[in-house]
Amino acid sequence: MFITFEGIEGCGKTTQVNRLKEYFESLGKEVLVTLEPGGSRLGKTLRKILLSMESQDLTREAELFLYLADRAQHVDQIIRPALEQGQVVISDRYADSTVVYQGYGRGLDPQILHSFNEIATRGIWPDLTILLDLPVEIGLKRAVTRNLQTKQTDEGRFEAESIDFHNRVREGYLTWAALNKNRFIIVDATGSVDEIFEQIKNKLSDSTF
Ligand code: TYD
Repeated sequence: MFITFEGIEGCGKTTQVNRLKEYFESLGKEVLVTLEPGGSRLGKTLRKILLSMESQDLTREAELFLYLADRAQHVDQIIRPALEQGQVVISDRYADSTVVYQGYGRGLDPQILHSFNEIATRGIWPDLTILLDLPVEIGLKRAVTRNLQTKQTDEGRFEAESIDFHNRVREGYLTWAALNKNRFIIVDATGSVDEIFEQIKNKLSDSTF
């Protein structure tokens, strides 16, 4: 079983990923939590490059291929082996982030990006994708506070993007989720951690998945 979390900066993905992991473990399942960018050894280096303020000069095409390289390595070395062993795999971001950020956000063609994702993932798609949706202003405020608290001061390249960019990303997620209704669930991420997790659990039990 393969589950991915998606959403704008500061939507609370990481917290909910961990809550869901604990929940599945309480049901006796073996769970692997991973993330993009940065899920593999090579990916950790790519993550530094991708999120650093020093990479302000990356072209959107170069950025795209670094995310795809990260994904190809991640799928091959981490995700596929865990799925083959029967583990539940939960990834904090995956292929949809590329369609939404590089596509709806940066203006590349979402359908072409989808084809690139087919290559990078070798056709491994999530059974379920949880989109945590919230207004950009709230997300960005949370993301900036978190980066200061965790001293991840060199991970600010996306937080430094314009409000317009983030609004395109939010809207892009909603559009892409509507086009992929079979595997997306949309959760209102404005509430407390507990409220959001309750919604996730309810939607999990509602979905045919
Ligand atoms: P992440 O570490 O999840 O940041 P946050 O927790 O602040 O949301 O993701 C890193 C950034 O990389 C995020 O701004 C989205 C971006 N990204 C892309 O632009 N394309 C991609 O394919 C992926 C996986 C991430």
